[in-house]
Amino acid sequence: MKLGVNIDHVATIRNARGGVHPSPLKAALISEKSGADSIVVHLREDRRHIKEEDIRFLINNINIPLQLEIAPTEFMFNFAIANNIKKVCIVPEKRKELTTEGGLDINNNFEFLKENINKLTNNGIEVSLFIDPILSNIKKIKKLDVKSVEIHTGNYANAAESEEKFFLKEIIKIVELANSEQIVVSAGHGLTYEKVKKIINIPGIKELNIGHFIIGEAIFYGLENVIFKMLKLMREKDK
Ligand code: PXP
Repeated sequence: MKLGVNIDHVATIRNARGGVHPSPLKAALISEKSGADSIVVHLREDRRHIKEEDIRFLINNINIPLQLEIAPTEFMFNFAIANNIKKVCIVPEKRKELTTEGGLDINNNFEFLKENINKLTNNGIEVSLFIDPILSNIKKIKKLDVKSVEIHTGNYANAAESEEKFFLKEIIKIVELANSEQIVVSAGHGLTYEKVKKIINIPGIKELNIGHFIIGEAIFYGLENVIFKMLKLMREKDK
């Protein structure tokens, strides 16, 4: 199972003072050196963390894939194409939310996606949709001819231990269905060491994308150490 490290919150801290420190590029390079498989960034409409120039800087300087999370808008799709992005994950976005609050409402965005996803794929961009673990989403994904999804693990991540089984079952079912339709599955949101321990037992998830916890823990233990520990957890299962 691969690990994508979301470095948005390094930019959040940098932006708090408006200068250049701490550097998202430095975080990306340390992540790369520590074994992360990809770097994930979300270009939000309000640019509250990562900005356009960060992305250009990252693309030119890292050696592992960059995954860009974007809202389904013409501007964001054009940005991905113009900057030669290789992989995008399409996420919903509300201006006032603290973080991405759920998966994409495919019905509401269906026409836009149907008309515009091929602009990305025709430019060689791998497209994934961030979805809630609701089985009917897979049918809609197939209609859009999308080959990858990221499952929103937020409900599981927020659940008390006594409720975890219920949310894990939802994730297991959608991973099975997606895999049976040859759809590649990744997962993320709100994952911690504890929460990852149970997710890695689900067969069929290719990648986890983790941001807030890794960057938060890095304040106390260092980014390299936190990524090592996360990867060790994830790779122990692969043996
Ligand atoms: N995956 C997606 C699509 C996201 O939007 C986010 C948050 O930006 C994450 C993963 C990472 O979530 P967290 O920061 O809670 O680990």
